[in-house]
Amino acid sequence: MYSRIAGTGKYLPERVLTNFDLEKMVDTSDEWIRSRTGIERRHIASEGEATSHLACRAARVAIDDAGLRPEDIDLVIVGTTTPDLIFPNVGCLVQEQLGIAAVPAFSLEAACSGFLYALAVADQFIRCGPTRRALVIGAETMSRIIDWTDRETCVLFGDGAGAVVIERSNEPGIIYSTLGADGRYRDLLYASSGVSARPKDQEGGTLRMKGNEVFRVAVKTLENMVDEVIAANKLEKGEIDWLIPHQANIRIIQATARRLQMPMERVVLTVQEHGNTSAASVPMALDTAIRDGRIKRGDLLLLEAFGGGFTWGASLIRY
Ligand code: ACO
Repeated sequence: MYSRIAGTGKYLPERVLTNFDLEKMVDTSDEWIRSRTGIERRHIASEGEATSHLACRAARVAIDDAGLRPEDIDLVIVGTTTPDLIFPNVGCLVQEQLGIAAVPAFSLEAACSGFLYALAVADQFIRCGPTRRALVIGAETMSRIIDWTDRETCVLFGDGAGAVVIERSNEPGIIYSTLGADGRYRDLLYASSGVSARPKDQEGGTLRMKGNEVFRVAVKTLENMVDEVIAANKLEKGEIDWLIPHQANIRIIQATARRLQMPMERVVLTVQEHGNTSAASVPMALDTAIRDGRIKRGDLLLLEAFGGGFTWGASLIRY
């Protein structure tokens, strides 16, 4: 028993903030941002748009793409680190807005790896339990936890949502998933807003990052993880058709592609369009390359992400 991808969708908020707009807000330049990160613009949710709204926009497209209706879904999992509220969880909010029946619905928080975590959990539900069709979403409003006066972080992030519907299948599907975490790195990347641990005003409740150190650990961890996927599945490096990486920084992506001996033409790159959208980036990149015809049924895909926690995850998928 496997799960396979039946449909995908994405949503980016209308408002666009370019590098040139940021030049007017903080001491930065389009040239610095593009050369260090590959980012050209990011999308920002409007005041009335919360994470669940973005999630629903992407989810509707994915459900439709799978040829299904909301009532056909029997599990909802949302990877997000920027929930609408403490509770109800974003999964429940999505369920209510889409009119999905009284099935399990929850969100999980693993920062940029949130979608890979959610996908692995949903895959287990389908393999082991009664679940037939799961809606798996990565959705974020990172703009709400950004300090817009901090040039070291505000140029990096954006808002968005990506969704997939996975369904039970006799053929793969999701072949292999791996997840990891190491909380000893908690201080390198975190958001100081919270409920029980820190007063909200301690550091303005915003995202803090030691970018250089994150970069180094991200590259090393992703290299080790892709080596593990290759070895565990007895793959030759050239066998993977498409790398769909977390879209944080083009230089991190290039390092992973080099490790896999994959040319950049086989790597889905969307970071220039929307910056780092945390848990939303992998499903948005997947949807982009399926819709523009690059990824075809039967292709072998490697999805991977690394983020705050630290957390990381990868999924090897026959599309
Ligand atoms: N504009 C202009 N100058 C800047 C900016 C900016 N926006 N931000 C920092 N600088 C300056 C710094 O102050 C520093 O100046 P100094 O040399 O006078 O001290 C200089 O640029 C170089 O700074 P570095 O931090 O060394 O730049 P680096 O090449 O490491 O790039 C970056 C920084 C882009 C943050 C990089 O380290 C990175 O991408 N790290 C990974 C972080 C990340 O992606 N986190 C997201 C979550 S984890 C994940 O998804 C992988």
